Amino acid sequence: MKIGRNDPCWCGSGKKYKNCHEAFDRKIQSEELAGHKVPDHNMIKTPAQVEKIKESAKINIACLDEVGKQIHVGMTTQEIDDIVNEVTRSMGGIPAPLNYEGFPKSVCTSVNDQVCHGIPSKDVVLQDGDIVNVDCSTILDGYYSDSSRMYLIGDVSPEKKKLVEVTKECCDRGLAAVKPWGYLGDMAYEVHTWAEANGYSVVREIGGHGVGIQFHEEPWVGYFGNKGEDMLLVPGMMFTIEPMINAGTAQIYTDKVNNWEVYTLDGEPSAQWEYQILVTEDGAEVISY
Ligand code: MF3
Ligand code: CO
Repeated sequence: MKIGRNDPCWCGSGKKYKNCHEAFDRKIQSEELAGHKVPDHNMIKTPAQVEKIKESAKINIACLDEVGKQIHVGMTTQEIDDIVNEVTRSMGGIPAPLNYEGFPKSVCTSVNDQVCHGIPSKDVVLQDGDIVNVDCSTILDGYYSDSSRMYLIGDVSPEKKKLVEVTKECCDRGLAAVKPWGYLGDMAYEVHTWAEANGYSVVREIGGHGVGIQFHEEPWVGYFGNKGEDMLLVPGMMFTIEPMINAGTAQIYTDKVNNWEVYTLDGEPSAQWEYQILVTEDGAEVISY
């Protein structure tokens, strides 16, 4: 278990531990002694892993770009699923949602008061004024990427447009708060305070997650915490910023029949954007968006 100072570093760099991650591990240990949650080594991506994950992300980004080009009034959410399948397969990837814990489709499409995990269907036709989240996740050579965007369908009301814009701002403000040797709560604080300042609420039960080697890794990422709280952030950690922001109540329920689709309890709209980010030496890098 204990690694000698002259042993090869656990990170796979080939360098001696004392010349590589020893000081880094000491810093983490002192944070842990001070009472903070700290990441395990398995939450830290090596540069080689990051390169592979970026290749996966190219597909994820291409899918969402292509959806953006084609989405329109009258399109079904099944057609969005078809686009994601086509782009993903043509670039050599596999859609991660397909058969994931029984999920029946290749992407999540969540319309209006659907909070997340909407199931694409030929029966769901996008209407003028809808807002829709398309949440795309890709596996390439075993490496995972995951991001989502909102799309405005036709003529969207100012209220819904503002919800979509403020939710994007929540993500951007959260992203700006991600720094090595800071805390996950620094990011969460920016997200929920901006949502609340605009009169919105943040979904609590569903969060983001570590990602890259698996679809969902530790840590779980909430968006209602406060500065200096929750897990310590260190370079090499990769996770999603994907808050679900509701126009009305934060309360949600899950469809009893399909056990996937999540809705706002009051029927008011919900929005979500998702970035996959890497903690770097001086801040954060967006890997998928
Ligand atoms: N892409 C979603 C996320 O952000 C995962 C949904 S699980 C699925 O974590 F099975 F519905 F795809
Ligand atoms: Co995610």
